[in-house]
Amino acid sequence: MSGIYIHIPFCKQACHYCNYHFSTSLKNKESVINSMIKEIEIKSIGNNDMIETIYFGGGTPSFFDTSEINKIIDSISKKFKISTNPEITLEANPDDLSSIKVKELSNSFINRLSIGIQSFNDRELKLMNRSHNSKEAKNCIDDALKYYDNISIDLIFGMPDSNLKTWESNLNYVTSLDLNHMSAYALTIEPKTALESFVKKNIIKPLDEDLVFEQHEFMCNKMSKHEYINYELSSFAKKGYFSKNNSAYWLRKKYIGIGPSAHSFDGTYRSWNVSNNALYIKDITNNKMFFEKEKLSIIDKYNEYVMTGLRTYWGISLTYLENNFGSSYKKHFENKVIKFVDSSLVVVNNDVFTSTIKGKFLADGIASELFLINL
Ligand SMILES: C[S@@+](CC[C@H](N)C(=O)[O-])C[C@H]1O[C@@H](n2cnc3c(N)ncnc32)[C@H](O)[C@@H]1O
Ligand code: SF4
Repeated sequence: MSGIYIHIPFCKQACHYCNYHFSTSLKNKESVINSMIKEIEIKSIGNNDMIETIYFGGGTPSFFDTSEINKIIDSISKKFKISTNPEITLEANPDDLSSIKVKELSNSFINRLSIGIQSFNDRELKLMNRSHNSKEAKNCIDDALKYYDNISIDLIFGMPDSNLKTWESNLNYVTSLDLNHMSAYALTIEPKTALESFVKKNIIKPLDEDLVFEQHEFMCNKMSKHEYINYELSSFAKKGYFSKNNSAYWLRKKYIGIGPSAHSFDGTYRSWNVSNNALYIKDITNNKMFFEKEKLSIIDKYNEYVMTGLRTYWGISLTYLENNFGSSYKKHFENKVIKFVDSSLVVVNNDVFTSTIKGKFLADGIASELFLINL
């Protein structure tokens, strides 16, 4: 069982907060697609895994014509074994999702949409430099719901000058539509973004961490009242609507990444493709190495299990630690985790440790104290 992630490295315009890999020039589009198809062929050699999920992420996959998405799916289905009912997700931006485009997509193999709404508040959308406004965001969800029930939307909270009231009004829109899935991320000020330069120049002031947590806690309580399961730090879903693709990452299953900057994991090695469109095309065309890779040690695997366990509702099981890593790892974990159980950031049920709402928010910091270090 495996998943395929396709990174579409193009966007219409750069959002002020984003440091994912993308280009706003489409001049290499055709060659990137052809190189991706070649990469699909290369990575299919000797691979007999059943593909259960395909995920088009980015960048902005909805920026591509549906025929271009179909061409990529077609090449995957010719080279890989696909399960009978795969989850095939496309990340889409509201300004691309006209009613005609949604209808077109619904006639393709795409059976799940992840729409980058970010906010229903026009002031916030402007500050983010999104290419849509709140009216377009709402209209595109209405159009999408005519053809899809497996829809997720992305939101960002903890925006400068936001408060519980502005955040509640964003969440009210999600619960009023009873959407089946939402991913909501706390804003991070990433290096080399416009937002970072605004902060450095004192044009904007990041929200205080306590106020960001207040919004996170409010969201968890509200979504739980509306029967959403917070199955990962930022992910909320109705029963039966967990993202199979994302769950596979968190359960450390294998996936094949295609396209510039895409990451892959084969159970032993993690690899990452070059994050530059022109270099990616050049290396693939000239049969050169287009990725770097690293072998995970048992310590890396333990650290990843602890990290994902703290962020997800599957948690960290002592039996799993004992069976997969041995008693010394289990002992190390038990000794270190006790402090977080005492401070109510982690709770234990039978032999499974899961984070509380605050614990999930602080998962990175807690994990760093539970990690082992490669010597
Ligand atoms: C890389 S984007 C791709 C999706 C699509 N291009 C879009 O913009 O909707 C994936 C998601 O990551 C989140 N994201 C990206 N940068 C972020 C940041 N600095 N802070 C918080 N969330 C961020 C956004 O919610 C975004 O929808
Ligand atoms: S958030 Fe999405 S649309 Fe905006 S720059 Fe990043 S990848 Fe592109």
